[in-house]
Amino acid sequence: MKITVVGTGYVGLVTGTCFAETGNDVTCVDIDANKVKKLSAGQITIYEPGLEKLFERNLKEERLFFTTSLEEGIKDAEVIFLALPTPPGADGAADLSFVLNVATHLGKIMTDYKVIVDKSTVPVGTAEKVTAAIAAHCTTPFDVVSNPEFLREGVAVDDFMKPDRVVIGTMSERARKVMGELYAPFVRQGNPILFMDEKSAELTKYAANSFLATKISFMNEIAVLCEKLGADVDMVRRGIGSDDRIGKRFLFPGIGYGGSCFPKDVQALVKSSEDAAYDFKILNAVMDVNEKQKLFLLPKIKGFFNDDLKGKHFALWGLAFKPNTDDIREAPALYIIEALLAEGATVSVFDPEAMSNVKQVLGDKIIYAEHQYNCLENADALIIATEWSVFRTPDFNRISSSLKHRAIFDGRNLFEVTRMKELGYHYESVGRMP
Ligand code: UGA
Repeated sequence: MKITVVGTGYVGLVTGTCFAETGNDVTCVDIDANKVKKLSAGQITIYEPGLEKLFERNLKEERLFFTTSLEEGIKDAEVIFLALPTPPGADGAADLSFVLNVATHLGKIMTDYKVIVDKSTVPVGTAEKVTAAIAAHCTTPFDVVSNPEFLREGVAVDDFMKPDRVVIGTMSERARKVMGELYAPFVRQGNPILFMDEKSAELTKYAANSFLATKISFMNEIAVLCEKLGADVDMVRRGIGSDDRIGKRFLFPGIGYGGSCFPKDVQALVKSSEDAAYDFKILNAVMDVNEKQKLFLLPKIKGFFNDDLKGKHFALWGLAFKPNTDDIREAPALYIIEALLAEGATVSVFDPEAMSNVKQVLGDKIIYAEHQYNCLENADALIIATEWSVFRTPDFNRISSSLKHRAIFDGRNLFEVTRMKELGYHYESVGRMP
């Protein structure tokens, strides 16, 4: 099949590459000429494990193309995916201007039947708006489909190639047939393609992310309660997770959810609810809990240093909002760093992938270490903000010989509390007794 993907951000690039991998001819369109030049030359623009290999192969075998021209990009295409940004506007609602501008442009240049697919996370009702924007300038038949994406950063290729489910929102039989064929290679193991109406598909995406964010905020509150009551959140997590109805996954407490999706999508669903004159109480609480949770470690750190962080120096491991990505959007680490700096402390940081992204945001406000152990030099204590695997079994001798105090504040519960006690550390984590 001939496919166009408009937008070569995270979702667009993964979508385009994975569809090329199943034998389709894919043209990716982006207005950023510099990005298109880089991608055409074989230079991948995001860090995502496993993607580069597929990208290089499909580029070489000429199934993957990049262009800045929408006209050129959609020539002969049967399906056009819109994988464009939908950032939160000033009022928290998703800003649809990128999506609707492209839809209007498509309306002006389409000359034969095409399926236009909303891949971006968009509020309920967007398929209708996209349809109207195209139809305003177009007389040829077309269908608009809502096909939300559920991939996770860090495991995006796997998630895309073997999705738990594919959601396809359209009442058009013609479009269902095209989309069903396109996705057939991805659901060979028997996972479902769920056909539904456009609005239900749009809401499914927000409901999924908001439910997962709720699970995390719930566990973060249980962790707070564990500390207050003297329980251990690891035990409680196992205790409840073994009930199938609750499930083992996504129950890990920490220093809050971040990234480009959960914060934005929860906020957007709250806004959609408000617009529909409904007060979505749980989600407001989910956001409040998450805001607090990002600075969960701060009182513990201050407590250890008698409420005076002035002149103290901290080593911080982990900047990305989660492991296996260089994405620092809404990363809890950044909130912690800003809070420490505001208290008059200095900070050295290390992250396996996200250093250059943080440099662009924080510049010379902090020190960038070349190695996780260099980061510890002259530091009073170590703070862990992201659970990269390389931090899981560190050389504790090197840590203790570098730090001024044997103190670790761990926002991701990487180590056993009893082991840390044996090693002589002042070790504080989330929801476990020190
Ligand atoms: C999330 C969803 O998991 C994907 O299904 C969805 O497609 C994507 O958003 C999106 O809308 O594009 P992602 O943001 O890549 O994916 O990251 P997750 O792995 O879901 O983690 C989100 C946040 O939750 C991270 O900050 C992570 O540290 C936190 N988290 C996750 C916890 O604090 N505890 C957990 O048990 C799990």
